[in-house]
Amino acid sequence: MARKKLGVLISGRGSNMQALIDAARAPDYPAEVAIVISNVPGAAGLARAAEAGLPVITIDHRKFGKGADAKHLFEAALHQALEEAGAEIVCLAGFMRLLSGSFAGRWYGRMVNIHPSLLPAFKGLDVHAAMLAAGVKIAGCTVHYVSAEMDAGPIIGQAAVPVLAGDTAESLAARILAAEHQLYPECVRRVALGQAH
Ligand code: GAR
Repeated sequence: MARKKLGVLISGRGSNMQALIDAARAPDYPAEVAIVISNVPGAAGLARAAEAGLPVITIDHRKFGKGADAKHLFEAALHQALEEAGAEIVCLAGFMRLLSGSFAGRWYGRMVNIHPSLLPAFKGLDVHAAMLAAGVKIAGCTVHYVSAEMDAGPIIGQAAVPVLAGDTAESLAARILAAEHQLYPECVRRVALGQAH
């Protein structure tokens, strides 16, 4: 069976990208990382991907200026790089740029994201502090298809973790991140096999 080619988009440390790279080392994993693209020059994840022998590209969104045109040009460059790499599934892995509805539409059903909360609760940024402030006792992470609306596309999978007494945003984030590293490869496996609905 041909392995599906993944285009992984990152902005930072790339630990979820690493989880996908590690999963794809198994010969029966139905996908492989074809390209890693960062919008942040020098993102730590780029070095990790290069160390794994993978092609990496930086497409710095700031080089395109500001405003709607800039976003359009940035996304056109992203799209071209993904196409050139033969990407069939796009995995957002700590990619911190909001993508336009038109980009989301182009990749709809073929682009997934991981988010560190049990969606639809706690969309957006700084979710760990928000969960502690809200006093929730169960936290977790979600893998979902990317739609035009932020953190709102159809859910593919979720994992729950407890919030413990004395948790800080950092300790909670670390517990959720460990769950993310299990959940993301498992969900991408189902997407690659056409079993994620
Ligand atoms: C992860 O916790 C991921 O869920 C989150 O950023 C972190 C990236 O870590 N993503 C979002 O908040 C997206 N809205 P990583 O670079 O080590 O994978």
